[in-house]
Amino acid sequence: LAKVLICDPVETEMLSLGDRIDVDYKPSITREELLEQVPSYDALIIRSRTKVDKEVLDRGTRLKLVARPGTGLDNVDLPYAKSKGITVVNSPESLVEAVAEHVTLLMLALSRRLVAADRTTKEGRWEKNSLTGAELRGKVLGIVGLGRIGRRIAEIAKSLGMSILIYDVIEIPPDVISALGVRVVTLDELFRSSDYVTLHVPLTPDTRHMVGGSRLADMKRGAYLINTSRGGVVDEDMLAAALSEGRLAGAALDVFEKEPPAGAILSAPNTILTPHIGGQTQEAQTNAITVIGEKVRAFFGVG
Ligand SMILES: NC(=O)c1ccc[n+]([C@@H]2O[C@H](COP(=O)([O-])OP(=O)(O)OC[C@H]3O[C@@H](n4cnc5c(N)ncnc54)[C@H](O)[C@@H]3O)[C@@H](O)[C@H]2O)c1
Repeated sequence: LAKVLICDPVETEMLSLGDRIDVDYKPSITREELLEQVPSYDALIIRSRTKVDKEVLDRGTRLKLVARPGTGLDNVDLPYAKSKGITVVNSPESLVEAVAEHVTLLMLALSRRLVAADRTTKEGRWEKNSLTGAELRGKVLGIVGLGRIGRRIAEIAKSLGMSILIYDVIEIPPDVISALGVRVVTLDELFRSSDYVTLHVPLTPDTRHMVGGSRLADMKRGAYLINTSRGGVVDEDMLAAALSEGRLAGAALDVFEKEPPAGAILSAPNTILTPHIGGQTQEAQTNAITVIGEKVRAFFGVG
């Protein structure tokens, strides 16, 4: 019987691992307890709380699999797991629609000044004239990273009548470019020409602070920045400065360098800040757990 330890909160009733996998559910296990107990398990199911570093992987002498419902694997030492022959699986496909819809919401909310409209109306003010917004139709959207989420956003943005610029480090197949109706440009051109820039890259040494002072200075005056990828991709202090100086019209962030966030970004004007809820829909969470259940069963051949 394969033994699986679930170390973070997971809706276990949706996991359905079957009766040929022995499951222990310890959603608040401490690091010390994990280090002590990991030698008895063949697999770990984690979310973002549990750190699967070299020490955990070394202690896990029986460990063959680490599974993470959803996307983020920042808390797993992937190269070390690979070097030990331990498979790591996640289910990034489950969150695509949720994040793409969240980005659409943020673009619309920024453009129509939804947060200010709600706040002033509740305060008894009637700011009808000062709250003139802008439409997305006809505007230029720059998508940095045309992976799973970037592609879905391109589809939605196209249906809203936006023109779409793309930058990615990998070559995008010509059939994808023509099906999505996008134009591939350099990163410089994307930042210079877009009315909205949305980021969909992983956090790597190359993308850390990819959007810093000089990229922000390149953006059109009055443009918007949206980041639902990973916090470290944007230099938050530089973004706060660009917003305070009125160079950007606004920014929406779902992810932060430190979560919960701190510092100048909290008081910068014209922002919408959300607590990393891009993938947080019932549909996405259910799907992520179902898919991880399937992947764990398939791994142990108890499909
Ligand atoms: N906010 C949330 O709740 C939430 C949920 C899911 C995913 N995410 C994040 O969204 C991001 C995108 O997820 P995805 O599933 O679309 O990933 P993906 O791997 O499908 O796509 C990422 C794309 O970025 C490209 N890329 C990598 N480095 C680049 C660089 N330096 N410059 C330009 N492009 C680069 C890759 O080639 C790839 O096409 C990830 O950072 C992920 O962690 C956030």
